[in-house]
Amino acid sequence: MDITIIGAGNMARGIATRALAGGHAVRLLTPERDEAQGLASELGASTQAGIVGDRLDTDLVVLAITYGAVHGVLDTYGDQLDGKIVVDITNPVDFDTFQPLQLQAGSAAQEIANAAPGARVVKAFNTTFAGTLVEGHVAGRTLDVLIASDDEQAKQAVSKLATDGGMHAVDAGPLGRAHELEAMGYMHMALQETLGTQYGSALTVSA
Ligand SMILES: NC(=O)c1ccc[n+]([C@@H]2O[C@H](COP(=O)([O-])OP(=O)(O)OC[C@H]3O[C@@H](n4cnc5c(N)ncnc54)[C@H](OP(=O)(O)O)[C@@H]3O)[C@@H](O)[C@H]2O)c1
Repeated sequence: MDITIIGAGNMARGIATRALAGGHAVRLLTPERDEAQGLASELGASTQAGIVGDRLDTDLVVLAITYGAVHGVLDTYGDQLDGKIVVDITNPVDFDTFQPLQLQAGSAAQEIANAAPGARVVKAFNTTFAGTLVEGHVAGRTLDVLIASDDEQAKQAVSKLATDGGMHAVDAGPLGRAHELEAMGYMHMALQETLGTQYGSALTVSA
């Protein structure tokens, strides 16, 4: 599968690393080409780079950007997102207070679905930290990727991306569960100070 990742920061690096490990092709898009090109060069030959605004030529697009940047990207792409699998990984947090943002739609993922009604929105990867995605495991344990969507085929595609990259895909239910996933993502961040794990921990579901 070919995937587009918008962003070239920590999570773009982590998700791209796992996607490439799973044999997928990655294209990175950033506002300035240099940023995408820099990460693409580090990640290797099959990684392409471009700028936000370039035509989307893949069925799956990961928004690896801060919550505050999401609506600008949605505005840029408009109806080009129709039919695309759009993966929302955000944890909407007020950076001044480090409190979660209370969103009227219930979640960032639902806001995206409302703003881009033709997109097949999937919430995923927001509960896994970037460095652990680069490593691919924590303390020798497979990473769980919790995935929510109202579109079963889209959920399957993101699940395959996760499992191909050596992770365990966990079906977290419909997109409405993004509210709970974003709360989990926030809680996981908030625990870092208590645990002293420096964003190197993983949330796992044991059975
Ligand atoms: N870091 C984690 O462990 C983690 C875990 C789970 C979820 N998340 C979520 O993942 C998302 C990305 O986090 P991150 O840690 O990767 O952040 P990051 O390292 O700051 O990277 C953000 C990326 O977004 C780009 N960007 C900023 N404004 C943009 C715009 N208007 N249009 C397009 N791209 C833009 C940035 O480019 P510039 O550098 O040029 O601004 C950068 O490449 C956030 O929503 C966060 O809540 C993060």
